[in-house]
Amino acid sequence: MVEANNTTVTLQVHRFTPRPERAERARGGSPFAKKSSPFGGGSDSAARRRPRGKQWVQEYTIPARPSDTVLDCLLTIKRTINPTLAFRYSCGHGMCGSDAAAINGTPTLLCTATVRDWAKQPSTAPEVDDEGFRRTGDETANEPDVPAENVENNIPEGSLGVIELASLPGFPPQRDLIADIDPMLNQIRKLTPYLQADGVLATTAEGKVDVFEYLQNPEQLAKYETLSNCIACGVCEGACPVYAGGDAFVGPAALIWASRFINDSRDTKAMDRMDAIDTADGVAGCQSVRACSRHCPRGIDVGEEMWQIVAKVRER
Ligand code: SF4
Ligand code: FES
Repeated sequence: MVEANNTTVTLQVHRFTPRPERAERARGGSPFAKKSSPFGGGSDSAARRRPRGKQWVQEYTIPARPSDTVLDCLLTIKRTINPTLAFRYSCGHGMCGSDAAAINGTPTLLCTATVRDWAKQPSTAPEVDDEGFRRTGDETANEPDVPAENVENNIPEGSLGVIELASLPGFPPQRDLIADIDPMLNQIRKLTPYLQADGVLATTAEGKVDVFEYLQNPEQLAKYETLSNCIACGVCEGACPVYAGGDAFVGPAALIWASRFINDSRDTKAMDRMDAIDTADGVAGCQSVRACSRHCPRGIDVGEEMWQIVAKVRER
C-alpha cells in the first residue's frame, strides 16, 4: 500500500562548523603544526576532542512518510533546502557503517532508522512539576498523545514528530553530523585485524596443493562468524561510557576485531593477540556496562562478546 505523503517531520540538527585554519593561526596557532586540524592544529588527542568552531541547532520541517529513513530526510534537506548540511553515508542499507550518528541521543545508523521509530511528539506536560522537580520519563510515559496543534512549540497538524540529530558521541565532530572516527580505526589497526595463518595449505594424499584456501569445519567457523560481521561503525563505542575517545580504553569495536581473529582456528597469533589486549586500556578497561550491545546494527551481542574475551584472556 502506498502511504499518503501529507505528513511532515521536523529534524533538529546539531550543527558544527570548525573554525577556519586561518582564524586559528591569527589566534596564535602554530603554522608549523604537523597536521592541520580544526581541533587545535596538532595530533594531540585531548585537543582533538575539544573541537573549536561554531555550534548551533538548526530545525528543518519537511514532507516525510513514516517509512522514510532519517537518511532519506537528510537527503531531502540537502537537495531541496540546505546543501551545506554535512553528513556521511555510502551504502544506504546498513552495510558500510559510515553514517553512525546520535538519533534522539542514541548512537545508531541514519540509513536504518525510520521516522516511524524515532519521531517523537513533544509532550504538553511541563518539564518540571509543581514543586520544581524535573519530571522523569516514567512519569510522562503514560500521558496520552496530544493533538499536534495543541503543542506548546506549535508543531503543525500532520506532523509525525521531531527527531533530534547529533554527531556520534565519544568522537570529536568534524562537521555537522560527521564525527572523526580515526581514533577507533587506529585502535583496530593496532591490533592487526587480518588473518595470520601458518602458510600451510591443504594438500591431497599425493602431497599436491588441493585448494588455495585454509580449510575449517562449520563448528570452527561458527566460533567467529558473527564477529566477522562487524562493520566498524562505532555505534558500540558511541554508547560505551568508558570509551570516550579511546585514551583510557581501546573500546568494544577494537576488542571485537581482536576476538574475531583469536577465535579463528586458522590464525596462529591468538596468544600474541591476547597479550596485546591484556592491558589496563584493553580488557581491563571494560566495566561490563553492556550499553555497547543495545544498538549494534550487525546483531552482535557486544557486551556478551566482551565478557567472553575478558574470560578467555584471564584464563589463558
Ligand atoms: S560491534 Fe556492532 S556496533 Fe560495534 S562497531 Fe561493530 S558493527 Fe558497529
Ligand atoms: S550508509 Fe552504509 S550503513 Fe548506513
